[in-house]
Amino acid sequence: MKALVLSGGAGTRLRPITHTSAKQLVPVANKPVLFYGLEAIAEAGITEVGIVVGDTADEIREAVGDGSRFGVEITYIAQHAPLGLAHAVLISREFLGEDDFVMYLGDNFIVGGITGLVDGFRASRPAAQILLTQVPNPTAFGVAELDDSGRVVALEEKPKVPKSDLALVGVYLFTAAVHEAVRAIEPSWRGELEITHAIQWLMDKNHDVSSTTISGYWKDTGNVTDMLEVNRAVLESIEPCTQGSVDEASEIIGRVRVEEGAQVVRSRIVGPAIIGAGSVISDAYVGPYTSVSEGCRIEDSEIEYSIVLRDSSITGVRRVEASLIGRGVEVTPAPRHPAAHRLVLGDHSKVQISS
Ligand code: G1P
Repeated sequence: MKALVLSGGAGTRLRPITHTSAKQLVPVANKPVLFYGLEAIAEAGITEVGIVVGDTADEIREAVGDGSRFGVEITYIAQHAPLGLAHAVLISREFLGEDDFVMYLGDNFIVGGITGLVDGFRASRPAAQILLTQVPNPTAFGVAELDDSGRVVALEEKPKVPKSDLALVGVYLFTAAVHEAVRAIEPSWRGELEITHAIQWLMDKNHDVSSTTISGYWKDTGNVTDMLEVNRAVLESIEPCTQGSVDEASEIIGRVRVEEGAQVVRSRIVGPAIIGAGSVISDAYVGPYTSVSEGCRIEDSEIEYSIVLRDSSITGVRRVEASLIGRGVEVTPAPRHPAAHRLVLGDHSKVQISS
């Protein structure tokens, strides 16, 4: 069995972060989202992994390398444009051969891994096995329609009037039967070859398509709100430890990880939270559900329920909440006079000012 991990896509809903960085590499608890998926694949006993990459190929390659750190062997497959999930399968034909495979969307986050799912599929081998979960906003997903016995009878991509609240989760299992399906379908209204249509095609041709409904935790981390929520969920279970230094005037409460070389000076940190390697927190408050990446400086400020990417600084600001701050960002107070906000914002930035 192989794995096909999709790491292309433009990441428009995570702009401006994704202008300069792949959405699959945005860290959750200081580790890229994509790495959680690769770890789950390795844990399920799959070692041959194809990663489909687009415009951000170089960055993904640099972060993941040959896969040895995950115990897998990576083959990179270039997709010249984001033409859909079924298109990704189409261009991966040579890598996949006649093998069964799990397709994993690189920005999806599933707690508890996929080992049980993969083992179940190996035992019964339907043409396709999909994962479903209840969502409050089904119009943003592929949605399944089930009959009275709970069998999937139809799938619809981003329906205007959803037939249920069961969304397709971004993990799919296939036998080689899917290759005929991805060749047979036409692009959708959004110009993409939809995997949803390929699975519908399999059903129409009387192939066996089974579904599992999960109630556990799943998020598509494509937007900031979900990203912060996944960060919260992962931080809940971190192991507290102090590899850096915490001075006597500081207070650490709850699950807090202070990574190597990080310094906490005259500050209060209330976990769960992570302070990345080499970061300096001084005269500051870092509240629950905050991940500060490496090389950051948080001084004379308060921050909570946020993700700060590497090499950024926040000085003299109260108070930052529910924020995703990119790399090398500086947040400081404006001079007292004139009393005005001063902003240098990248394209597609979003700022909410409270004053
Ligand atoms: C894709 C699939 C959709 C699925 C979702 C899960 O959507 O097309 O069926 O529910 O992933 O994350 P997209 O990310 O392309 O909007």
